[in-house]
Amino acid sequence: MKALVLEKQLELNLRDIDLPTEVGPDDVKIKMHTVGICGSDIHYYEHGKIGQWHVNAPMVLGHEGSGTVIAVGKNETILKEGDRVCIEPQVVSKKSKEYKLGMYNYDQKVKFWATPPIHGCLTPEVVFPGDMVFKIPNNLSYAEGAMVEPLAVGMQGVTKAKIKPGQIGLVMGCGPIGLVTGLAALAGGCSKVYIADILAEKLKMCDHYPNLIPVDLSKENLSERIMDETNGWGVDRFF
Ligand SMILES: NC(=O)c1ccc[n+]([C@@H]2O[C@H](COP(=O)([O-])OP(=O)(O)OC[C@H]3O[C@@H](n4cnc5c(N)ncnc54)[C@H](O)[C@@H]3O)[C@@H](O)[C@H]2O)c1
Ligand SMILES: [Zn+2]
Repeated sequence: MKALVLEKQLELNLRDIDLPTEVGPDDVKIKMHTVGICGSDIHYYEHGKIGQWHVNAPMVLGHEGSGTVIAVGKNETILKEGDRVCIEPQVVSKKSKEYKLGMYNYDQKVKFWATPPIHGCLTPEVVFPGDMVFKIPNNLSYAEGAMVEPLAVGMQGVTKAKIKPGQIGLVMGCGPIGLVTGLAALAGGCSKVYIADILAEKLKMCDHYPNLIPVDLSKENLSERIMDETNGWGVDRFF
């Protein structure tokens, strides 16, 4: 199967590679439609590693994906052929301590797409456990479906922050993750969310989200501005 393969640092090829194609009883097969490029894909390309994870063998990139189910295993009861889906790109052990404590995302042995040595989803078809695959509603585009994974990062931060209605939030950094965090904070009850960055071009994205208030740190004093606009109360939640 063709895939976007990171051979090693700074060497990418679109080429054939052997990937699993057999659908196990708990698996589904997905025809990929849209895959986002994450900061981590770029890190692996530019630096060949992130922290303890080194690209020591060719690896397919991509973990923010959406597509259509084209086959289901015999145990699958929810998904069926033709369903439009997005994917939580990790396989965890149901026997792990973290899984049993209800925080499987902390499983130390997690197999996460496009994290060496696990292949990602920048390929026409993937086989994946059905319980990590979610239907998306018809009014959501495939591109929006692919953004569910990064959106979940913001949702998790905001969930932990236990916002009360009307609170004021501040997000530092207006990259994709800052934006999804700011949007989640608004959805979670903040009446206003400031988002600060040192680069004006990153803050331009706020033009699309009128409820996020950009603060350009190259020109403005953040604390003076916020104190001025909140009667000296400051913000309630900082991300
Ligand atoms: N927990 C997760 O699952 C998860 C997933 C994705 C990303 N992340 C992390 O989230 C962070 C943001 O990711 P991203 O993809 O949005 O990155 P990004 O590089 O696109 O955005 C970061 C932004 O921070 C700005 N910035 C840098 N220094 C600053 C400073 N001193 N003050 C204010 N702004 C500053 C940069 O200009 C940039 O716009 C990264 O640390 C990334 O590793 C976590
Ligand atoms: Zn990502």
